[in-house]
Amino acid sequence: LTSVRYPDLKRGGYATVTDRDISDFEKLLPENGRVLTDASELSGYNTDWLKTCRGNSQVVLRPKTTEEVSGIMKICNERKLAVVPQGGNTGLVGGSVPVFDEVVLSTQLMNNIISLDEVSGTLTCQAGCVLGAIEEYVSDYNLTIPIDLGAKGSCHIGGNLATNAGGLRLLRYGSLHGSVLGVEAVLANGDILDCLTSLRKDNTGYDLKQLFIGSEGTLGVITAASIICPQKPHAVSVAFLGCESFPNILQIFKQSKNMLGEILSAYEFIDFQSMSCAKENLNLSSPIGDFPFYVLIETSGSNGQHDEEKLNQFLEEMMSLGLVHDGTVATESIKIKNIWGLRERLAEGLLHDGYCYKYDVSLPLPHFYGLVEAMRERLGDSAKRVIGYGHVGDGNLHLNVTSKEYNQEIMDQIEPFVYDWVAERRGSVSAEHGLGFKKRDFIYHSKSKSAVHLMQMMKNSLDPNGILNPYKVLPSTLR
Ligand code: FAD
Ligand code: MLT
Ligand code: ZN
Repeated sequence: LTSVRYPDLKRGGYATVTDRDISDFEKLLPENGRVLTDASELSGYNTDWLKTCRGNSQVVLRPKTTEEVSGIMKICNERKLAVVPQGGNTGLVGGSVPVFDEVVLSTQLMNNIISLDEVSGTLTCQAGCVLGAIEEYVSDYNLTIPIDLGAKGSCHIGGNLATNAGGLRLLRYGSLHGSVLGVEAVLANGDILDCLTSLRKDNTGYDLKQLFIGSEGTLGVITAASIICPQKPHAVSVAFLGCESFPNILQIFKQSKNMLGEILSAYEFIDFQSMSCAKENLNLSSPIGDFPFYVLIETSGSNGQHDEEKLNQFLEEMMSLGLVHDGTVATESIKIKNIWGLRERLAEGLLHDGYCYKYDVSLPLPHFYGLVEAMRERLGDSAKRVIGYGHVGDGNLHLNVTSKEYNQEIMDQIEPFVYDWVAERRGSVSAEHGLGFKKRDFIYHSKSKSAVHLMQMMKNSLDPNGILNPYKVLPSTLR
């Protein structure tokens, strides 16, 4: 069997789902809507958010408990049925959808909050809780969640952990490797691994939960997590500034760390071409005039007046140094939301062009925007748009190219050029989206042979039948 979409890829030697398997799954998940087999219900689970990867799964399973996940994995492991764990299906590297006919295990119905310790701020919840719903829940307790991203309305916390998502607050709260205190996961053979501690400090042996953070569904199914939630800031302000050059953005970053220090909570940039995309495709408008670059600075602190004073002083200084030419500051939540919308909705805006070639790289800051310029020059008029935006504060660039429809010639101009360019500058070919299906064969651009070899050994030992998310993360051929 070969996939219609991926003619060069051979299906692994997995079993095919039979009527008997369906009836076993139905016994395990008895109510309606928990074993989906109807073609019309399956299509959303088979197609990724970017609409660039499509599988052909014949069954979607929707467990509610860890024990049910364990039961599913036991059956699949015994029968050698391949499985794709799926959360909100907002992943951007084709990792969340089947490649062939893998069983989809969706966490949609695993959406209970298990506990919240108001004093320590530790939240424990099931993996299928939607990120935005968690944010709302903890907000009532004057807490916030240490991760935020444009997909918060759909992505699940389990999916966030599985991809080690970065997002808009990483600058302030660090990566999930720091803020996740515990994980419960079901292994490929159905065993339940209980590492669901909520302790801040615990140096008793290997820190196994870290294995699952960023493993993109290849080592186990995350069923629950405990996360440390910081205090909700009393005051949030956002400045949106226009700049003439990218080096100025770096200078402003340096100054913002110096002058805003403890209240700086996000430092994001978008270029002129990103702004055009937001205007043309999303009908959004810029709160300031036209500039080659825009920077979004967010501050979050405990004293609004104090923070505003600091921010105003900082802006005056940036203007007088000639680093900023125009800007606006928002403190009301609706204005803040509108400004964030310009940045957060770019991924959505790009889809209106047709096909989006999406790259998410880490680069040393001096080379950061050079990749966008190099790509623009290389592609000339052949692409509809070449844009750069991203988490400058974290050294994470999002380079996006669009065309009306998928075009192999454009793709051949982009890859492997983009990955070689990044590797030559010792960057990472995936800063936060993961490798999934699309990028697994570029792993050697960022990881040594010895590292990939050890990853494969870990995979073999945790999932000897290779049933968990095959064709993802690890390369098709080991070197
Ligand atoms: P899915 O897409 O369903 O799955 C992603 C991967 O995780 C797959 O490999 C899947 O098999 C695996 N997986 C899912 N759930 C589990 C589980 N319970 N156990 C084991 N494996 C599992 N990413 C960022 O890092 N930063 C951003 O700022 C950001 N912004 C985004 C904005 C938009 C508009 C969109 C569409 C995406 C964005 N993303 C971002 C990418 C994506 O949303 C994140 O990677 C998110 O963490 C995926 O969560 P999900 O629940 O949708 O996972
Ligand atoms: C973002 O930061 O907006 C997300 O990672 C999505 C994207 O890269 O387009
Ligand atoms: Zn991002």
